[in-house]
Amino acid sequence: MLGFGNHFSTEAVAGALPVGRNSPQHAPFGLYAEQLSGTAFTAPRAENRRSWLYRLRPAANHPAFTPLHTPSLLRTGPFDEAPATPNRLRWDPMPIPSAPTDFLDGLVSLCGNGDPATGVGLGIHLYAANRSMHRRAFFNADGELLIVPQQGGLRVVTEMGRITAAPEQIVVIPRGVRFLVELTGADARGYVCENYGAPFRLPDLGPIGANGLANPRDFETPVAWFEDDDAPFELVQKFGGALWATELPHGPFDVVAWHGNLAPYRYDLRRFNTINTVSFDHPDPSIFTVLTAPTDTPGTANCDFVIFPPRWMVAEGTFRPPWFHRNVMSEFMGLIHGAYDAKAGGFAPGGASLHNCMAGHGPDKASYDAAVRAELAPHKIQNTMAFMFESRFAFRPTRFAQETPLCQLDYDDCWTGFAKARLPGAA
Ligand SMILES: [Fe+2]
Repeated sequence: MLGFGNHFSTEAVAGALPVGRNSPQHAPFGLYAEQLSGTAFTAPRAENRRSWLYRLRPAANHPAFTPLHTPSLLRTGPFDEAPATPNRLRWDPMPIPSAPTDFLDGLVSLCGNGDPATGVGLGIHLYAANRSMHRRAFFNADGELLIVPQQGGLRVVTEMGRITAAPEQIVVIPRGVRFLVELTGADARGYVCENYGAPFRLPDLGPIGANGLANPRDFETPVAWFEDDDAPFELVQKFGGALWATELPHGPFDVVAWHGNLAPYRYDLRRFNTINTVSFDHPDPSIFTVLTAPTDTPGTANCDFVIFPPRWMVAEGTFRPPWFHRNVMSEFMGLIHGAYDAKAGGFAPGGASLHNCMAGHGPDKASYDAAVRAELAPHKIQNTMAFMFESRFAFRPTRFAQETPLCQLDYDDCWTGFAKARLPGAA
């Protein structure tokens, strides 16, 4: 699934999966064979992703989609409803809604870049929900979805099986896969990266070697599961930035068996093998990359998904928190729980920050002062999980993101009050 060589075969009923042929003249039990592709047919073998689904009825069996006119704060590329801003932005967590709100209704876009029409860029959304999706499924024709739960567990029911995920786990849903989200508790909140570009995959490891960072064996793929459901079911899709809906004459989760290397998956962030310096200085935060969605320019991602997990800090003679920096890549950060070591306050679990291309940022004054005074014994950063969606394309915040009271108007102040360096002989 995350590179060539991972090919899954699964059947919920013994004998449902054809052997030797993808589309036999007579599939077992009269099931309908359907190919779902995630890359162009002619994509190189190492990039190619597709699966064969064997289902009770063809997925093509549905009436026309019509625009869904429900008010929504979900936005899409080119994210031009508000002027782009070079300012550093930070947001308080989204409140859990009081009105009945499911995962789909609860999506709110903070920022994004590119355009799904050209397969470039990504959208970054928050979700906050207090009910399960009921007889309502969704799929995204515009991109792949990387879901990062921050509060509350999810049960993601997909065509290809079911996945549960709690905070510190992530779920990736390929473009086009039909799914719904149920809550395992009273409410749920988290982040979504909608990747318009090439699918996420594991980064190359270079001199690190064959092991380390996120290990392939820890990516969990569901087994086939289906419902024999003949009651009407709402199916919503996002296509070209807009939501469209139709009513299926039956449930969408009728895939009895499937095989291939295109599938949803779960990964537990606590299984990340964290690598860092054992001498001095900082490796760049790319050392914490879980998944990368590349572009045609080597090493220059449409989106890198990077985490900041618990880890030992042992660097000698080193300012240990993230240093001041101005980067060509743009950085969106979220916090699943705990505290982030470059900020003494203001960056709360469920909150977010945006440091766009060339925006100067780094530790706030309190974190700086503490770090330069610290005795540099080995120290373990514990009980924290922050993450970053990093992109080669500058993020354009939505109108909501810039105007919501959740946006902290005093964020710039955290980099004030630094005393001037004293040169020899200066007054
Ligand atoms: Fe940064």
